[in-house]
Amino acid sequence: MLEIKDLHSYYGDAHILRGVNMKVPKGKVVALLGRNGMGKTTLIRSIMGLNPPRISKGSIQYDGQELVGLSPHVIAGKRIGFVPQGRRLFASLSVTEHLTVFASKSQSSLWTVKRIYELFPRLEERKNNLGTQLSGGERQMLAVARALMTDPEMLLMDEPTEGLAPVMVQHLEEIVVELGKTGLGILLVEQNLYSALSVAHEVYLMETGEIVHHCLADELMNDRDTMQRFLGVR
Ligand SMILES: Nc1ncnc2c1ncn2[C@@H]1O[C@H](COP(=O)(O)OP(=O)(O)OP(=O)(O)O)[C@@H](O)[C@H]1O
Ligand SMILES: [Mg+2]
Repeated sequence: MLEIKDLHSYYGDAHILRGVNMKVPKGKVVALLGRNGMGKTTLIRSIMGLNPPRISKGSIQYDGQELVGLSPHVIAGKRIGFVPQGRRLFASLSVTEHLTVFASKSQSSLWTVKRIYELFPRLEERKNNLGTQLSGGERQMLAVARALMTDPEMLLMDEPTEGLAPVMVQHLEEIVVELGKTGLGILLVEQNLYSALSVAHEVYLMETGEIVHHCLADELMNDRDTMQRFLGVR
């Protein structure tokens, strides 16, 4: 379980996260929704120990251990996987190299290149292409695949469907649901409300660095007022 309590983060003097509380249990898909610039990526970066932002107060516990103050590689080593917004890939690595370079050293890892290629047949077709020689959707799949190769128990995904065609969005949704069933905890940041609601168990809504609403995904689906108020959805 990932448990965030009263988290405050800054960029310079700008106070972005203003007392965030959130829980992500294993085996659940938790969606974090909110309009542009509300602090979603800042929260993900804070969890991963990336700097900036600077955490001034609060705690982030994972299986009861405090993460605040640990370096990103130590946090990643606790089997917390990260799919960054904007699909950061290495231009000089092929698809297969991306997968092997990030592979968990553990013998018992669930994930092998073979299993990844079963999940993402498109990546296998492109296995010798460099990161730069992939379409946007293929890059996004590779970013997810690369995170899975680290054998995570908790996966933080920052807008994985951004810029994807509907058929790709659907494929990614199916994968997120499957991963949740295997016992992974997933924190999914999304702009795409309906995509998030179709895969998530729980939803948190963020506005200017605060959680303003927490409910089951099914409840939000029927709560037009809340959707309108915090997400601008009619
Ligand atoms: N490196 C940075 N330095 C200074 N301010 C930043 C930095 N990154 C983000 N911000 C500001 O912090 C606020 C929160 O940004 P953040 O990226 O967390 O939003 P977001 O909810 O992820 O938005 P989006 O949906 O557009 O990705 C914004 O006002 C943004 O301009
Ligand atoms: Mg963001």
